[in-house]
Amino acid sequence: MIQVIKPGKLKLGVLASGRGSNFLAIYEAIKEEKLNAEIKVLISDKKDAPALKKAEERGIDSVLIDPALFENKESFEKRIVTVLKEYEVDLIVLAGYMRLLGKTVLKAYPLRIVNIHPALLPSFTGLDAQRQALEYGVRYSGCTVHIVDEGMDTGPIILQAVVPVYQDDTVESLSERILQEEHKIYWQAIKLLSEGRVYLEGRRIIIMDERKGAVNLNMMKKLKQS
Ligand code: GRF
Repeated sequence: MIQVIKPGKLKLGVLASGRGSNFLAIYEAIKEEKLNAEIKVLISDKKDAPALKKAEERGIDSVLIDPALFENKESFEKRIVTVLKEYEVDLIVLAGYMRLLGKTVLKAYPLRIVNIHPALLPSFTGLDAQRQALEYGVRYSGCTVHIVDEGMDTGPIILQAVVPVYQDDTVESLSERILQEEHKIYWQAIKLLSEGRVYLEGRRIIIMDERKGAVNLNMMKKLKQS
């Protein structure tokens, strides 16, 4: 069993392609001192991503890295790694980053990249997860925070939250219900990492409680109380 990250204040690098509401939720948790971390930089691959503006407005450095200006994925990702290293980032937070990460970033940050996906993995990977869940007809869906590996939404799972799917749900109403949970569990997962409580055994994540015993009760209840 290995400790995923040693305890300490984490320097975060956020990668976002769109709206940036998860970035904002993490930013707020830090501001409210619920999470001991610092967002060093937000990087976007899309020049018109609202996330860039949200970062700027809050005094967080934001960097546009336009893939069209690079010869290939490798050189594009090398630039991302250079920027992350300049900011001494120790955890990459994917927050609506719409590209599959390649070897260049993965190798530079092994076990140091997290993602949030709007479904209960391993169900409904990839794009349009909320639509997939609705069309499949599941009664419950939710969201998953996981460590990123080379697959599409396949890495070890840190936290999940469940929401009901109602018969009159639309993609929008279900997405909104899931998003509310995303905003709660993403920073909580980063908090667990920053407290050195996240361990990896095979592909299973074990969460330790403060006394270094594996959490075996209702974990979300405990987290809410802390
Ligand atoms: C979220 O639904 C997240 O689960 C998915 O992309 C969306 C990003 O939303 N990976 P936002 O940009 O954080 O508002």
